[in-house]
Amino acid sequence: MPMIPQAVIAMLASARIGAIHSLVFGGFAAKELGTRIDHAKPKVVVSASCGVEPGKSVPYKPMLDGALSSIDFKPNKCVIYNRPGFQIAALNHKMDVDWQLEMLEASPVDCVPVLATDPIYILYTSGTTGLPKAVVRPSGGHAVVLKWSMWNIYGLKPKDVWWAASDLGWVVGHSYIAYAPLLNGNTTILFEGKPVGTPDPGVYFRILREHDVKAMFVAPTALRAVRREDPEADYAKKYKPLHEFQALFVAGEHCDKETMEWSRNALEGKPVLDNWWQTETGWAITSTCAGMGMNLKPPTGTAGKAVPGWDVKVLRKDLTTADPGELGQIAVKLPLPPGAFSTLWESEERFKDTYYKTIPGYYDTMDAGFMDEEGYVSVMARTDDVINVAGHRLSTGQLEEAMLESEYLAEAAVVGIPDELKGEVPLGLCVLKHGITVDNEKIFDNVRGQVRKNIGPVASFNLMVVVPKLPKTRSGKIARNTIAAMAAGKEYKIPPSIEDPTVFSAIQTALKGIGLIKNTDNVELPEGL
Ligand code: COA
Ligand code: AMP
Repeated sequence: MPMIPQAVIAMLASARIGAIHSLVFGGFAAKELGTRIDHAKPKVVVSASCGVEPGKSVPYKPMLDGALSSIDFKPNKCVIYNRPGFQIAALNHKMDVDWQLEMLEASPVDCVPVLATDPIYILYTSGTTGLPKAVVRPSGGHAVVLKWSMWNIYGLKPKDVWWAASDLGWVVGHSYIAYAPLLNGNTTILFEGKPVGTPDPGVYFRILREHDVKAMFVAPTALRAVRREDPEADYAKKYKPLHEFQALFVAGEHCDKETMEWSRNALEGKPVLDNWWQTETGWAITSTCAGMGMNLKPPTGTAGKAVPGWDVKVLRKDLTTADPGELGQIAVKLPLPPGAFSTLWESEERFKDTYYKTIPGYYDTMDAGFMDEEGYVSVMARTDDVINVAGHRLSTGQLEEAMLESEYLAEAAVVGIPDELKGEVPLGLCVLKHGITVDNEKIFDNVRGQVRKNIGPVASFNLMVVVPKLPKTRSGKIARNTIAAMAAGKEYKIPPSIEDPTVFSAIQTALKGIGLIKNTDNVELPEGL
């Protein structure tokens, strides 16, 4: 579903009858949608005929048909909302029903009571392996903490206007476009558009002013997009003053200082507050809690302090607590507070193995960072094979699987490299099958096409190099961290367990070829090389 009221109506209708919903972001390809449908086995699928992207509409119905034809499982019915003013999607009358015609005949039903521990939704997110993780959200605790958070974290009273500029397909959309504001009696804004180009970089400020928004939630990547097109915040000035506006909250990825500063200036000096959380947690682990009287000028680069309910620790490899300022694995002492996920759908073992095995007694966040003396947390990087592209979590393993659908590739590796706009973008390393003499550009087109077909445009997969071999440890693991550090021009060490360390020089040459690294002085070779 695109960002239209019918998407929220479908979510709430599902919750009302005690059913479990699972939303899928529109930027995924049919195959990814199919994988999720096959795993969740829904009785009913709801879709709109299309979504709207800058300058084009993206047909969703053919995507749904493609997804269903790629799997054996079939839902009982598909409810299709044909969007007025756009091309009508043809319905298959054995399977599809028309939303608007059904609504003419529909009558209200009572709420179905459920247990607090019953799931309200399943939301898929990327993990280390190809199969996405199906995060299960229990109903009761979720409702309680979301309502609590609207005042205590975001400082909003009932009737205030709130805007989370995300997409309903992500956890932010579930928690803060749909459920939290509505539970707290706030007006929530639903925006089908982009920070720039729909129509200009002033659109966020126009909405803040026209709707008297009190607080807003946004991903740093969107602010970077606005800043890039409006460095002096001239568009923002057109909508001054923002009478009602109190604070901007950012999350989804690390927010750089310049973007924070630019946003603060563009918003007439109002606080810009970072908060850190994950699909699994459903709400903020750390934040500046505006409604709890916290200092609204937290140290730059931090994502606030642990929110009540979250016992956050930074641990060393030997599981002792790191000193203030020392980088370590961020973990949360059990039990987790209400609202956090209760399991992975039909994968209880994977749930336990993934999150609770590495650090007994703790939830492993798979984020690394540090805490200062006062408890302010800075989140620096993922410790698993997940990258964060424009605030979207992507699995490098899954991208590699998609690349390998190309007829030309024998092996593939994906790492995230820093990007000014999207925070991180994927870089693909291609090892060609023996005897391939095709032009590299043709190979890249083919591989790019496979990633778009199998994962979707959301991956922003454009950057590739051909290398003769991948650097692997003796146990067969690709040394992604080393490649990523090399591609980012950072200092790196070649792990001693690498089978053939000489492959790094070929990778370096390839990366230099596309202008990614400029010198090789920062290489530290293992002893003996
Ligand atoms: N339905 C269908 N396609 C979608 C889509 C959707 N909901 N969202 C994105 N896409 C497609 C785009 O059309 C584009 O396709 P193309 O390559 O064929 O042009 C591709 O996915 C990449 O889009 P996007 O990630 O939006 O990149 P962009 O370069 O067009 O825009 C930004 C850059 C920064 C403006 C944009 O990424 C953005 O607004 N990001 C904010 C993300 C966000 O709110 N995240 C919330 C996480 S909490
Ligand atoms: P998602 O599950 O898609 O919401 O992505 C969660 C991941 O995004 C986290 O594990 C972090 O790696 C990253 N992330 C989210 N918020 C922040 C933040 N404020 N600072 C740094 N990283 C963040």
